[in-house]
This record gives sequence, C-alpha cells and structure tokens, in this order.
Amino acid sequence: MRRPPDLVIAVDGPAASGKGTVARALAARFGLPHLDTGTLYRAVALNLLRWGGDPESEFAALRACDGIASLADDPELRAEAVGGVASRISAYPAVREALLERQRDFAGQSGGAVLDGRDIGTVIAPAAHAKLFVTASADARAERRLNELEHRGLTAHLADVLLDIRARDERDSHRATAPLARAEDALLLDTTTLDRDAAVAEAIRLVEQRLAG
Ligand code: C5P
Repeated sequence: MRRPPDLVIAVDGPAASGKGTVARALAARFGLPHLDTGTLYRAVALNLLRWGGDPESEFAALRACDGIASLADDPELRAEAVGGVASRISAYPAVREALLERQRDFAGQSGGAVLDGRDIGTVIAPAAHAKLFVTASADARAERRLNELEHRGLTAHLADVLLDIRARDERDSHRATAPLARAEDALLLDTTTLDRDAAVAEAIRLVEQRLAG
C-alpha cells in the first residue's frame, strides 16, 4: 500500500452513524491525530448556553465562538441539550466561518490527520486522500443513541430519540451553508447491520483499497 507522507482521511456522516468510532479507529491504525469537529460546534453551543445567549441569534452564536478551547474536555459537551443547540448554531455561516481555519489547520498539519464531521470531505479537506461517508438507517441510529443514553444512566424513549435524529438529519442536510452531503469521491460505509468491530474492519479495508488504487 502506498501511504502519502501527509495522509489526510475525511470521515463524514449523520448523527450516531458510527463515524466517530470509525474515525478514531482509523487514526489509531494509521498513527494519525484525530479531530472530532462536532465537539467544536458543541463547545460553541455550551458556551452560548452558559452565557444565557439566544441560539436564535447568529450574532450571539458568533460571540460564543470565542474562548472555546478551554471547553474541549468538558463532560457537558455530550449532553443532549448541547447537541440540539449545536445542530442549530452550526447552520449560521458566521459560526462555520469562525471555526473553519482551525479545522483546516488541523487537516493541513505535517504528518497528516483524520477528521470527522459533516463537511470534511466537501469543505474542510476536499483534497483528502481518502474520504468515507458513514451512514446507517435512522432506526438503527436511534437504537444506538438510546443505548448510549441508557449507558450513561439517562432515561429516554425510542420514539423521541428517533424524532430527534430525524430533526437533526433534516437540519444538517438542508442548511444553506456546508450541508451534510456525501462528497462525490467519498466511499460509502453503511453500518446498519454491522457491529463496531465489523464497521471498523470495513473502514480500514476501504481506506487501504483507496490508498492502493
Ligand atoms: O457530530 P456531533 O453530533 O457531535 O455534532 C453536533 C452538531 O454539530 C451536529 O448536529 C451538526 O449540526 C454540527 N456539525 C456540523 N459540521 C461538522 C460537525 C458537526 O455542522 N463538521
């Protein structure tokens, strides 16, 4: 397998598709640093919520982009409410613009990188050597999200989780700026019927095949 010296791998996909798991495994396999770009949008949302800023205001959301580095490891980033606000403020062009450079810098670092998100293969790193679009049925993703919530000791109903997943899909796919979309040259990985190990094995196989070809 030919491996470029500054290997960049882009992983995109909807919520709970398994893209984070796949991206972390690819980073470990290829010895690359990994950035979960969803945490940047979540950090802006958390900052905004803590300030009491209005998520309906693009200006307030832009202000909340300042000082997010200190929130990188905050356990509250994973809260459902934070994810919901993240999915709203991520539609603002000014917020996307404010977060663009640090993502591009991460992708462009010497030695290469793996990034996962919604617009990595299309906007952040369009020249990535390998791109994966990870997906799964909404039902499968809702079940995974429910398991994850229960694991964290939270109670939820499958029907509500499914509604939330569908609402996020809708917002992410239909916003005007950098919508969730499969890049033309992205390889599709459908994880609906795959467990974690099978999804990771298939992701590695697809990337190695792309690098070999
Ligand atoms: O991936 P995660 O669910 O943590 O992302 C939270 C929200 O951030 C998503 O619902 C999406 O709207 C937004 N996001 C984005 N572009 C990215 C990563 C995340 O718009 N590259």
